[in-house]
Amino acid sequence: MSGSNPISREAVAAAVSEANIAIEAASTLAELRASRASSIGEHSPIAKLNAELKNIANEFKAEAGQLIGQARGQLNQAFAAKEAELFAVEERAKLAAEAVDMTAAPMPVAFGARHPLSLLQDQIADVFIGMGWEIAEGPEVESEWFNFDALNFDADHPARAMQDTFFVEPVEQHLVLRTHTSPVQVRSLLERELPVYVLCPGRVFRTDELDATHTPVFHQVEGLAIDKGLTMADLRGTLEHFARIMFGDDAKIRLRPSFFPFTEPSAELDVWHPGAKGGARWVEWGGCGMVNPNVLKAAGIDPEEYQGFAFGMGIERTLMFRNDVKDMHDMVEADVRFSQQFGVNL
Ligand code: DAH
Repeated sequence: MSGSNPISREAVAAAVSEANIAIEAASTLAELRASRASSIGEHSPIAKLNAELKNIANEFKAEAGQLIGQARGQLNQAFAAKEAELFAVEERAKLAAEAVDMTAAPMPVAFGARHPLSLLQDQIADVFIGMGWEIAEGPEVESEWFNFDALNFDADHPARAMQDTFFVEPVEQHLVLRTHTSPVQVRSLLERELPVYVLCPGRVFRTDELDATHTPVFHQVEGLAIDKGLTMADLRGTLEHFARIMFGDDAKIRLRPSFFPFTEPSAELDVWHPGAKGGARWVEWGGCGMVNPNVLKAAGIDPEEYQGFAFGMGIERTLMFRNDVKDMHDMVEADVRFSQQFGVNL
């Protein structure tokens, strides 16, 4: 029995050409894969012909099956070839986009540098930590009592005047921006067990205009030693050791009589600076003295039992004469080129 065969050569060729058109039309891998079902997959013309196989007369089945099989083979190959081609194109584009030009000039990487005042402050702290002292800190907004009264300043001492001291409003609170690090002396004595050996570095404030040698915000370092039987000789020995580490083995110190309310006797401290630009010379470095018994009493300490010494100096000033910095502006302007001269210390 014979009838018509719907899976003719022509029908298969038409299905193949339709699929080839779809495959060729894809310009990206994504498009190609999205069209897979309709070009060679379950919804494709060739799949539909294949589905007809079971309905046709047996006499046509072998030939039709062969035609469809060959066509599917061809189409699968065409699809795979197109897939490989598009993959290669996309891979090349991706590599080109990710290319690194090994000959290009590198982006400059700027290194910062720690500020020389911070470096000096750390160096000073190290000297005293090496002798077993501790670091003490106090607030920058300080009560007038700690800043002045406890340090034995008279109620009408000129340093309290508005032109030297920043008062925090409202003034009835009696808060000031600390004018020196000396209030940390009294705080340390109140907070710590005796004996006390502390170094207090920190920021201080005075109503000065910024010029070549002044700045309204600067740094001081304060030393305080309270123990049984300390004398002026201990003060001298400590400062001499400190001076040698700061200014070299040939440095020495000189004490000149002076006055501070919180020390008695008091002295101005000069240092012989052997490395000074223009030749070795004496330079005023800070103030010092034996702690006034009134300060010990303010901290509840019996001055008959405990004595000690204190000293204080400016860190900016120390840096200026030690490293021959001529102008305070260089220290406050935060230009990294200034800091870099002192070394990039990471
Ligand atoms: N506080 C003083 C000032 O700011 C410096 C000073 C002098 C500190 C004598 C001391 C000292 O500890 O004993 O000018």
